[in-house]
Amino acid sequence: MILQSRTVEGTGFQYPVELHEDLAGFREKLEALKKVSRFIIITNRDIAGIYEKYLIKEIRSIKVPYHIIYVKAGEKNKHIDRLKKVFHEMVKQDTDRKAVIIAFGGGVIGDFAGFVAATYQRGIRFIQVPTTLLACVDSSVGGKVAVNLDLGKNMVGAFHQPEFVFAPLFTLSTLPSREWSCGIAEIVKHAFLSGGDFLEKISRMQRSDFSPESEILRYSIDESVRFKAKIVSQDEREAGVRAILNLGHTTGHAIESLTKYSKYSHGEAVAMGLVTALLLSERVIGFPREKLQKAIHIMKSLGLPRSIKENPSKIIEHMEHDKKRDGDTLNFVLLEDFGKYKFGVPIERDLVLEILKFQKGWDELG
Ligand code: NAD
Ligand code: GLY
Repeated sequence: MILQSRTVEGTGFQYPVELHEDLAGFREKLEALKKVSRFIIITNRDIAGIYEKYLIKEIRSIKVPYHIIYVKAGEKNKHIDRLKKVFHEMVKQDTDRKAVIIAFGGGVIGDFAGFVAATYQRGIRFIQVPTTLLACVDSSVGGKVAVNLDLGKNMVGAFHQPEFVFAPLFTLSTLPSREWSCGIAEIVKHAFLSGGDFLEKISRMQRSDFSPESEILRYSIDESVRFKAKIVSQDEREAGVRAILNLGHTTGHAIESLTKYSKYSHGEAVAMGLVTALLLSERVIGFPREKLQKAIHIMKSLGLPRSIKENPSKIIEHMEHDKKRDGDTLNFVLLEDFGKYKFGVPIERDLVLEILKFQKGWDELG
C-alpha cells in the first residue's frame, strides 16, 4: 500500500519517491516502464537472504527476464575495484541499453548500483529500492551516485537520477540498531534545516519509534524526503543551496576518515558534526543558546552521540584534506535558527579548533 509520494524534478528529470508498506504494487511500477529488455537486480546476500523472495514474487510474473548480481556488503565494497566484475557479469548477460538496474539495499548498494547504471554503456535507467532508513530519507533521493577510491570516499561519481524510488518500509523491521542511528542522524539534520512542524514533531520522537509502524517515524521519513526533494529540485548539481545538505558533514567526514571508516557509522559521525556546526553557529551567527540546548536534547533522546573523543588537531588535519577548505579557513554550513541556514561560511581554523576542544569529552550539556 502506498503511504506517501513526493516528486523530485529538475532540468530533464521528474520522478516520484514513494513510501510503501511493503513491495505490493512494485510489479505495476515495473510494468509501466517502457521498452525494458531486462532487469538487473544489484543487492547483497544479507538483504537478499531476507527479502529477495518478496522482490522476485513481484518480478517473476512480468514477461521481462531478470538477473541478480550479488555484491559484498559494506562500505569497503563500494569501491572502484568492484565495478569490473559487475560490468563483466552484465555483458555476459547480454545487458543492453534498454536494461534497467534495480538497486535493492541501503546506501552502499544504491550508490554503487547507481554508479553502474550511470556508466554502463554510457548510462542506463535504474530504480532505487532503499532498505535502510538512511537510504529511504537520503541516499536514494537526488541522484548522487559514487564509488570510493583508496584515497577517498565518493571520489568517482555522477549525477544520475533514478526512474523512481520505491521504499518498502517493512524492510526496516530487521535493521540493526546502529543502522537506525544512521538514518535518524540524517532525519535530525533535515529537521534542523527545515524547522517548523518537522522540528517540533521530531522533538517528540523516542527510541521506541524506531519501528516501521511508528506514525511519527513515517511522518519523519516523508518530511525528510519532501525537504530533500525540494532542495534537489532547486539545485541538482550542488552549485549552491544543495550544499546545506552537508550540515554536520565537515566534521563528520573528517572523523570518519581519521578513524578509517571503522570506529563510527556515518550517522554517528554526522551527529557529532551536527553538534560542531551548531556550536559554531551559536558563536559565529548567533544561533540561540536555548535552541542549541533543544537540539542537544533531541539528539540525546534519540541516542545520537554529541561529544567527540578524537584529537581536535587531527580532526582539523582531515578537514583540510577535504574539499570544503579554502586557504586558512574551513567552510561550514551553519544555522541562524532552525530552518534558517547559511552555506559556504568560512571559519578560521583556530576557532574550529577551539570549538572541537570544547566538544571533546563534553558530556555535561549532552
Ligand atoms: P549500508 O548500505 O552499508 O547498509 C548498512 C548495513 O545494513 C549493510 O550491512 C546492509 O547489508 C544492511 N541492511 C540493509 N538493509 C537491511 C535491512 N532491511 N535489514 C537488515 N540489514 C540491512 O549503509 P547505509 O547507511 O544505508 O548507506 C551508507 C552509504 O550511503 C554510504 O556509502 C554513504 O556514502 C551513502 N550516502 C549516499 C548519499 C547520496 O546522496 N547518494 C547520501 C547519504 C549517504
Ligand atoms: N547527501 C547530500 C546530498 O545528497 O546532496
